[in-house]
Amino acid sequence: MANPRSPRFQLLFAFQLLLLLQLQTKSFCHQYKVGDLDGWGIPTSANPLVYAKWSKYHTFAIGDSLLFLYPPSQDSVIQVTAQSYDSCKLKDPILYMNNGNSLFNITKEGNFYFTSGEPGHCQKKQKLHFTVGNVSAESPAYGPSALPDFAPSYPTVFGSIPQPPSSSPSLSFSGILTAVIGSAACAILSGIM
Ligand SMILES: *[C@@H]1O[C@H](CO)[C@@H](O)[C@H](O)[C@H]1NC(C)=O
Ligand SMILES: *[C@@H]1O[C@H](CO)[C@@H](O)[C@H](O)[C@H]1NC(C)=O
Repeated sequence: MANPRSPRFQLLFAFQLLLLLQLQTKSFCHQYKVGDLDGWGIPTSANPLVYAKWSKYHTFAIGDSLLFLYPPSQDSVIQVTAQSYDSCKLKDPILYMNNGNSLFNITKEGNFYFTSGEPGHCQKKQKLHFTVGNVSAESPAYGPSALPDFAPSYPTVFGSIPQPPSSSPSLSFSGILTAVIGSAACAILSGIM
């Protein structure tokens, strides 16, 4: 039985943490496809909160990028302020992209709000909010934090993972594995490109 207070355990833990940090600062090239298989478009009635769910179950860091895929003749993507995001009054977007294959590069921490530049799409919940880093959301009205009322099964899945002290080494081990797989994928990707 590993005693979490023993010096040996603490050394091991510190070592794993260091390794994890090193790996994470190295793997700087995660690219996420917004909406996964759904791409970027007006959410279907079967999955109206597709983008709120998507951002809730992804974590982004500086250096990552988000790929918006959509038919360029029918859609676009704009970055807007929290106010525009909530009200869908879409004037003066921060960024406008409409080539169908739009890459947004995360270069700083904060709150990021996106919607479509096409009339009516924002009202139909084609919008994405995510945060980078430990910042509080500016928009409590419609964001990942407003999710709990759609699927009662999700919060329990994530809320009831027991975390006894003895399980933390295995947790950070799986974190290392993820980082290793991530950086391997990155290496392969940058080899191809
Ligand atoms: C993000 O980076 C890619 C490649 O580095 C570039 O082609 C693209 O224009 C960038 N996106 C923005 C919004 O600047
Ligand atoms: C995030 O920031 C708040 C205050 O700014 C702090 O209380 C909290 O512990 C931080 N959380 C993490 C995970 O760093």
